[in-house]
Amino acid sequence: MPQLAYVNGRIQPLADASLHVEDRGTQFADAVYEVCAVLAGRILDWQPHLDRLRRNLAELSIDWPMADGPFGLQARRLIAANGHEDCLLYIQISRGTARRDHAFPGAAAANVVMTVRRFDFRQRVAQLASGVAVITQPDTRWRRVDIKTTGLLGNVLAKQAARAAGAFEAWLLHGETVREGSSTNAWIIKDGRIITHPTGTEILPGIARNSLINLAQAAQLVVEERPFTLAEAKAADEAFLTSTTAPILPVIRIDGQAIASGRPGPITTRLGEQVWAEVARQTGWRA
Ligand SMILES: Cc1ncc(COP(=O)(O)O)c(C=O)c1O
Repeated sequence: MPQLAYVNGRIQPLADASLHVEDRGTQFADAVYEVCAVLAGRILDWQPHLDRLRRNLAELSIDWPMADGPFGLQARRLIAANGHEDCLLYIQISRGTARRDHAFPGAAAANVVMTVRRFDFRQRVAQLASGVAVITQPDTRWRRVDIKTTGLLGNVLAKQAARAAGAFEAWLLHGETVREGSSTNAWIIKDGRIITHPTGTEILPGIARNSLINLAQAAQLVVEERPFTLAEAKAADEAFLTSTTAPILPVIRIDGQAIASGRPGPITTRLGEQVWAEVARQTGWRA
């Protein structure tokens, strides 16, 4: 089956799908995006993703006249057409195509692109038992990283540094404070308390982050949304990360230093079971 993409209302072969070279997403990163997990053919947390997308479009004053219902239908049509049960749905909306000029164009229709890529979520369940290593990098991004724009060069360079170091992720530091990962939210656990950077303009409000907070609180665990330092992280009892593509992964090493025993901790492991139970409840997916 050929891979298919959605571009401005049309589903077409991915190889032929394209945007105009003066798309403002290409020239200015004047575009927002979402990545959604699709398991057993169902989109996980669709409404929270849609809400975040709407908020981001509003932050950038990008008009996008499609209603939620028809948009959801288009996304599901694309997923069905690609025929993948387990995949990632990528959505990108730019301000549109216009003669290059920094200021907003007078009239431009948003360019809407969606692609679907097969994804193996089972590997993430397996990684619950092994955990992953992270390194740290300076946070060089702009000051509105709460808006999920395609301007990701700071994230890209940090992730590449992690890859080069043989690590899964780079945690981004502002001074001594750990903000988040290059494409994940960062967490530590100390004395039974689960700690993560508060939302605001300095981190992306992750959908998986929010789900984790809800699950932890439902399990009577204490969640503290406050900044934490690299020293605190290295001295933590446990650490983990969350994202759409890695709903929860234990972090067992930071900059080469083992966290506690250097193995996934008991609270993270328990949270992991709850996270995947919630995925199963929403989508019917089983590892
Ligand atoms: C910088 C950053 N932080 C956190 C996340 C996690 O967000 P979500 O849970 O919505 O995938 C992402 C996801 O791409 C990200 O790019």
